[in-house]
Amino acid sequence: MQRKWWKESVVYQVYPRSFKDSNGDGIGDIKGITSKIDYLKELGIDVIWLSPVYKSPNDDNGYDISDYQAIMDEFGTMEDLEELLDELHKRGMKLMMDLVVNHSSDEHNWFVESKKSKDNPYRDYYIWKPGENGQEPNNWTSFFGGSAWQYDETTDEYFLHLFSKKQPDLNWENPKLRKEIYDMMTWWLEKGIDGFRMDVINLISKADGLPSAPGGKRYDWGGEFFMNGPRVHEYLQEMNREVLSKYDMITVGECPGASTDDAIKYANNEDTELNMIFTFEHMDIDSGPGGKWDLKPWKLKDLKEVMTKWQKDLEGKGWNSLYLNNHDQPRMVSRFGNDEEYHDQSAKMLATFLHMMQGTPYIYQGEELGMTNVRFDSVEEYNDIEIKNMYREKVIEGKEDHQKVMEAIYEKGRDNARTPVQWDDSENAGFTSGKPWLNVNPNYKVINAKNALENKDSIFYYYQKLIQLRKEYDIIVYGTYDLIMEDDDKIYAYTRTLGEEKLLVICNFSSETADFVLPEHINYQSANLLISNYEQNSEDISLIALKPYESRVYLLK
Ligand code: NOJ
Repeated sequence: MQRKWWKESVVYQVYPRSFKDSNGDGIGDIKGITSKIDYLKELGIDVIWLSPVYKSPNDDNGYDISDYQAIMDEFGTMEDLEELLDELHKRGMKLMMDLVVNHSSDEHNWFVESKKSKDNPYRDYYIWKPGENGQEPNNWTSFFGGSAWQYDETTDEYFLHLFSKKQPDLNWENPKLRKEIYDMMTWWLEKGIDGFRMDVINLISKADGLPSAPGGKRYDWGGEFFMNGPRVHEYLQEMNREVLSKYDMITVGECPGASTDDAIKYANNEDTELNMIFTFEHMDIDSGPGGKWDLKPWKLKDLKEVMTKWQKDLEGKGWNSLYLNNHDQPRMVSRFGNDEEYHDQSAKMLATFLHMMQGTPYIYQGEELGMTNVRFDSVEEYNDIEIKNMYREKVIEGKEDHQKVMEAIYEKGRDNARTPVQWDDSENAGFTSGKPWLNVNPNYKVINAKNALENKDSIFYYYQKLIQLRKEYDIIVYGTYDLIMEDDDKIYAYTRTLGEEKLLVICNFSSETADFVLPEHINYQSANLLISNYEQNSEDISLIALKPYESRVYLLK
C-alpha cells in the first residue's frame, strides 16, 4: 500500500457560522477560528476542512456562493483568511477549503447574466429548458423538497436546481464553465491552501436529455439520472489533469448515492480523480423507504454490513473517509450512542470504533466534547432551509401531525449539528458576546471545552490519545480490516492486520454488559492494551465481560 500524508492525517471540520464569534455579531467568523488554532493543535489534528466562507446570500448557509473568490462579510476578509492559513501552516497544519461547484448562488454574476437572454454569453453556464405542456421540463424533485425546476419569466424557460431555487445547477457540459472553475481552483491553490472538499461532486453530470424518473408521477426522485452521471469521471479526470495533479494536496468528494464500485473509480490508487469520497450508506441505516425523515431504528447488524463492505471493497483499491457526523447529520453520540446515562463512555466508544478503521478520520466540531442533539420547542427556533421546507410541506401544506414531524427534526434535523460550539459555561457557551444566530444547546453548562480541558479523563483527551496512536502505529493507518463476531447484536469487533501484527478492536454498542469471546483463529503471544474507555487491569482477552459501551484496543504480537 502506498504511503500518503493524507492517509495518515486526521481532519477536523469547522462549520464557521457556529464555531467561534470574535466580534459579537452572533455569527462565527474567521478570526474566531484563528483564535482557537492552539486548541485544535492540542487536540492533535492535521487538517481543517473549512465549510464555505465565500460570499453568499446564505440561502443555504454558504453552500450558495455568489463569488468564489471573495469572503462573506460576516466571516471577515480575505486578509483574515490569509492569516488563518499562515497560522495553521506555522504549526504544521493544513487547510482544506469547501468547493461548491455543482451549483452556485442565483446571485452569482454568471447567473445574473445567464438569466438575461437566451443568447447571453453566460446562458450555457446553467441548465435551461423550456417547459413541457405548461409544466416543468421533467419530474425531478429537489433535495430540499418540491420540483427541481424554477420557471423564469424573462426568457420563458425553466432552470434546474437540485437544491434550493437559489442554487441553480451549473452546466458542466460547457467547457468554458469548466475552465472558469479550474482557474478559480488554481487561484486558491496558488494562495497556498492545501486541498478541497468537493460538495456533491458526483452530481455534476446529468443524463443526456434529462429524462423524467419513470412511473409517470408529476414529481418524482430522479436520482438515477444525476447521481454518478455519464460524464462525471471524465470531468474529474480533466480536473485532476488541469489542477489537482499539479499540487501536493488533499481531496475528498461528497458523493450521495455512490456505491463501492463508484468509490473505487473516484478514489482510485492511481490518483486520477480524488483521494477519497464521503459515502452516505451508513448514514441511511436509520431511514425508512420514505427517506431521511422516515425514522427507523438502526440495527448494529446493518452498521456492520455497511462498514465492512466499504472496508473490504476498497481494500487495496481506493481509500475510505471515516465519519459519523458532520454539519448535515445529527450528532453521533445522540444517534449511535447514549447521550444520557452513558454519554462519556459511548462518545469514546464511537470514536474508538471509527478511528481504528482503515481510512482518514473526520472529526466534526464539538464531537471531541461529546456535543449532543438539541430539541427546540418550536420550528421557528430552527434556521435550516431543509427543515423549514420540510415542515412547510408536511405540516402546513400536508396537514401531517406537528409533533410527529418535530420528533423527526429532533432526530435528523441538520441544526442538531449547527448549534454553536460550547466553549465554556458562561452565557451563550462562550461562543459569542452577542445573540447567537442559532440558540446554543442548553447542556453547555456541563458539556463544554473548558470543562473538558480541565478533566484528564475527558472525551477531548481521549480523542487526543486516539490521534497520537495513529501517529505511532502504522497498523492503525495501513492494516487491513476483518470483522469478527459477525452475528453478535451488541458487540462490534474487528481486527486490523499488518505483517505479523494484529490490532484487536472491541466495542460494546449497548447499555448492557456483553461477553466478548476471542475467536479461535486469532493467535498471539502478547496482548498490549493501547486504549480503553474504562479503567482496565485484566489482560486476559480470551473472554471479556464488557461493561456498557466499553471499548478496548489491543495490539497483538
Ligand atoms: C451538501 C452540503 O454538505 C450541504 O450542507 C448543502 O446543503 C448541499 N450539499 C448543497 O450544497
